[in-house]
Amino acid sequence: MSDPAAEVVKTTETYYDSDEADRFYFHVWGGEDIHIGLYDDGDSIRDASAKTVTRMVDRLHGWSDETRVLDLGAGYGGSARALVKRFGCHVTCLNLSQTQNRRNREMSADQGLSDRIEVVHGNFEELPFDDGQYDVVWSQDAFLHSGRRETVLKEARRVLKTGGNMVFTDPMQADDCPDGVLGPVLARIHLSSMASFGFYREAAGRVGLDVVGIDDLTPMLPRHYAAVRSELKSRYDEMVGISGQVYVDRMIEGLGHWIEAGEAGHLAWGIVHLRAV
Ligand SMILES: C[S@@+](CC[C@H](N)C(=O)[O-])C[C@H]1O[C@@H](n2cnc3c(N)ncnc32)[C@H](O)[C@@H]1O
Repeated sequence: MSDPAAEVVKTTETYYDSDEADRFYFHVWGGEDIHIGLYDDGDSIRDASAKTVTRMVDRLHGWSDETRVLDLGAGYGGSARALVKRFGCHVTCLNLSQTQNRRNREMSADQGLSDRIEVVHGNFEELPFDDGQYDVVWSQDAFLHSGRRETVLKEARRVLKTGGNMVFTDPMQADDCPDGVLGPVLARIHLSSMASFGFYREAAGRVGLDVVGIDDLTPMLPRHYAAVRSELKSRYDEMVGISGQVYVDRMIEGLGHWIEAGEAGHLAWGIVHLRAV
């Protein structure tokens, strides 16, 4: 019998490995990051995306060149490079997409950071690492793709040193999201639900992680997707040339569903900070 959560991992891997998705994320999102940004008026997607990294960094203390970070679902590795440039720390990028991993290795080498960034192909539901290796487990906008989110937290706790920090963002559903309103949003991720702040609070306690704090930054979710859609529309012909009309039209429609659900108060987004106990 097929395992639905394993099927989602396969579908997600195929999606992020595809040429259309790779070219889209690489060209529209700025080539380094694929995550929701923190916008002030006039910010580009790239500037806003960088601010999210800074805000996450600022939640943690004691960064140094000895800090060992594991980035789960690291995409093209933009956050890893930002952390290494700022602190000289060591970052392991664990990611499902070999296409992204290749670009991550290339960009890290081009920027002279290969000795500090290790890129590992894998699934964050089954981490290929020993217990108690990391000071920080980091992740941005990746856990939405998992059908086993509590397992992901459990794995993160396992590889963290006791006292180590987990800091992540994730597009979620609102704690009070009514049933049945997220159909078109969920269709895009092939899952029947998203996490919520409430889910992470409760699941963290069950796997040995204390909640240090939660930054609810929900208004940034529709704002970010609106910025991406607007960029895509303004560069429509170029993007059709890069990723094909079917992909681009589907993306514009899909972003519309996320913007609508976000503006209706059905979605949530923010920074979750946990500590291994
Ligand atoms: C929206 S992108 C975010 C990428 C990156 N964190 C960033 O902020 O730029 C989601 C990422 O999650 C990764 N991903 C999804 N499911 C995964 C899994 N089960 N294990 C590891 N990585 C996964 C995808 O390959 C993709 O890189």
